Amino acid sequence: MPSSLASRPIGVFDSGIGGLTVTRALMERLPFEDIVYFGDTARVPYGVKSIATIEQFGQQIVDFMLQQEVKLLVIACNTIAAVAANKLRERVSVPVLDVIGAGAANAVAASRNGAIGVIATPTTVNSNAYARGVHALRADARVFSQACPLLVPLVEEGWLDHPVTRMTVQEYLKPVLAEGIDTLILGCTHYPLLKPLLAQEVGNAIKLVDSAVSVAEQVAATLADLELATPSRDEADYRYYVTDIPLRFQTTGERFLGRSLRHLEMVHL
Ligand code: DGL
Repeated sequence: MPSSLASRPIGVFDSGIGGLTVTRALMERLPFEDIVYFGDTARVPYGVKSIATIEQFGQQIVDFMLQQEVKLLVIACNTIAAVAANKLRERVSVPVLDVIGAGAANAVAASRNGAIGVIATPTTVNSNAYARGVHALRADARVFSQACPLLVPLVEEGWLDHPVTRMTVQEYLKPVLAEGIDTLILGCTHYPLLKPLLAQEVGNAIKLVDSAVSVAEQVAATLADLELATPSRDEADYRYYVTDIPLRFQTTGERFLGRSLRHLEMVHL
């Protein structure tokens, strides 16, 4: 019999819709787990906001998530994880995993020459959080980060294989590729959707580290360690909470999630 704690949902939160890529990775890796998703769609994007604002918003979100009685929290948003993860962890007693810790660990495992590239939002890059995560595991690693502010809107537009996106990616990657990296961290919720295009641009010699897949692996390992995994069953329950339902939300959300998006509710924090 699962403990009552084990039967609780996993909480996943993001600044908006992008964290649905992390939710998708979790659904694929842990199909029996219930998931509660929160996206702050009224206040997105966070990637260009100040640390103080992101911390404040993050605290409001965590308080909401705790009311949902989750057994584990996943910070799906790289920007929130980069600047507020420690503060948010102080507020809760359930385990809190985040895309940055998981992505950095996978990148260190994947890299042979220790030259690791990171692409992310400006706030994530300025925080140096991925570099710190990498250096904590491999002190002699060299980390080259590039802010890519134009990629979030291009992905939300659905331009996943579009000449404008390709040119933008080429421009952003130029300085990072010049450093001889053998591993590239996709340090933003939106970038897993660009994986095919990015793979073409960087070539076979460079490994792409998807932080969404990385954190899903960590969640699976943590639930197993703590004996909190939900046993096999027919289907899991998914609920989505957002602070606004903007135009085309359903279409864009389903593209990120890779399946239909039902049980959507609007809430105010
Ligand atoms: N979710 C954000 C991230 O992963 C991207 C969108 C935003 O800027 O809020 O960094």
